[in-house]
Amino acid sequence: MIGILGALDEEVNLIREALTDRITVEKAGNLFHCGKLGKMEVSVIRCGIGKVNAAICTQILIDRFQCEKIIFGGVAGALLMGLGQGDVVISSHVVQFDIDLTAFGRRHGELANQDRLIAADPGLIEAATRAFDQLSEEMQNPPALMVGTIVSGDSFISDPATIKWLQREFGAACTEMEGGSVGYTCKINGIPFVIIRIMSDKAGDKAVEEFDAFLSKSSEMLCKLILGTLRRL
Ligand code: ADE
Repeated sequence: MIGILGALDEEVNLIREALTDRITVEKAGNLFHCGKLGKMEVSVIRCGIGKVNAAICTQILIDRFQCEKIIFGGVAGALLMGLGQGDVVISSHVVQFDIDLTAFGRRHGELANQDRLIAADPGLIEAATRAFDQLSEEMQNPPALMVGTIVSGDSFISDPATIKWLQREFGAACTEMEGGSVGYTCKINGIPFVIIRIMSDKAGDKAVEEFDAFLSKSSEMLCKLILGTLRRL
């Protein structure tokens, strides 16, 4: 079984609709939709916003549905100059930027006995990248793709000072609110994962308006990227 998560309905609705032989299981107030996508058995969950919700659902996917791989799809705020609305970031690494044990001499994002950056699975990165490449070939104005570090924290970022800090402290390509905790949960369970993000905004002063205008437009591309990734596993 493969676990597929998104924080919001718009991020998982088309994938959920594509399921065949679907059954729905409720756990911890969340609806897990299990079924098939092609030959793959999957469980699809809209986990809600934030690192705690994402971690809870990831652990349920692993324990209750025996997921051997996890894919998270959603939107994010772009942090690099060359990335704009509609561009795609696939995680090479994730980090929880709001973990702060600097008082104990640790770097931001660093927990005791854990690497600061958590590496996504190379096979899943490759599959997602090839899915992107094929989709781009079919588009007139294809978006850009970057495989890079995704930072996560329990804040929606909409200010230039935080953008600069996230770039400098973590070398981050984009910011969102779930990937770091999904990666952490997968790492401590020994489960491969990848995070696929479409840029909804540039995390600056206009981020809320950009996000609101773009969110529903992300569904189709996200669904195609995830289906394409699954086909290559
Ligand atoms: N998801 C999409 N845009 C975001 C932003 N600017 N900050 C945090 N999460 C996001």
